[in-house]
Amino acid sequence: MFSPQGPSPRELAIQALSSVERGYDLLAPKFDHTPFRTPDAVLDATADALRPLGPFGRGLDVCCGTGAGMRVLEALCQGRTTGVDFSAGMLAQARRAHPAAGWVRADVRALPFAGAFDLAVSFGALGHFLPAERPALFAGVYRALRPGGLFAFPLGAPPPVTSGWYWALLGFDLAMRVRNAVWRPPFVMYYRTCPLHAVRDDLTAAGFTVTTVPLMGRRADGSPRYRLVLARKPHAEIDRPYRRPA
Ligand SMILES: C[S@@+](CC[C@H](N)C(=O)[O-])C[C@H]1O[C@@H](n2cnc3c(N)ncnc32)[C@H](O)[C@@H]1O
Repeated sequence: MFSPQGPSPRELAIQALSSVERGYDLLAPKFDHTPFRTPDAVLDATADALRPLGPFGRGLDVCCGTGAGMRVLEALCQGRTTGVDFSAGMLAQARRAHPAAGWVRADVRALPFAGAFDLAVSFGALGHFLPAERPALFAGVYRALRPGGLFAFPLGAPPPVTSGWYWALLGFDLAMRVRNAVWRPPFVMYYRTCPLHAVRDDLTAAGFTVTTVPLMGRRADGSPRYRLVLARKPHAEIDRPYRRPA
């Protein structure tokens, strides 16, 4: 899981007691040696699944971290690629690895772009947002895309209750809830807060048309272990279904 170049248990503990932004600033120099960095196999499977839908013009990596998603954007986008993240430390690593890309420091709950991108991707970051924060995140991605633009991200299926992973993720989330109840600043990272049906509903409410394709792996029941969520911004706002004001 952690290579010898990765963070020590003490460093991880200090990071986990920090805010999300500060925690990633501290982790940044060693982040690529942790299991939190999205593996190339997932990135390549995503690029393969998106290729028939491209080519794309300009690309955005939401919560780019050290720039893992550039592997996908650079393979698919003919225009400029940009990464956005609020951790200056992570962005510094990303800039060093991909000097030709654009790097923007911003909180993605208030994305500072409008109609600028044809493809947006995001990897390994959805658990950092409480369900109540997803509408602002998805509205910002929607705004950032051109009409007809695509927002794509992998989403894992929940492990079955009989598997060790089910209990490991449940234990992690419970530990984080206890940590966040007794310690400030909070570190929001939960594995079990973004089931497909809830994510799909939030994307649809933001105006996207949502489909999924199988991405990687199979569960015992034959369903995909990972799906790629494909959220399309309609070509014209007029396509957007009427929603009665609350
Ligand atoms: C687990 S890392 C994933 C990084 C990269 N996408 C990857 O797959 O390797 C999560 C990233 O999300 C960023 N992040 C979390 N909450 C954020 C927010 N509200 N605004 C901007 N970035 C955020 C963190 O700084 C961190 O770089």
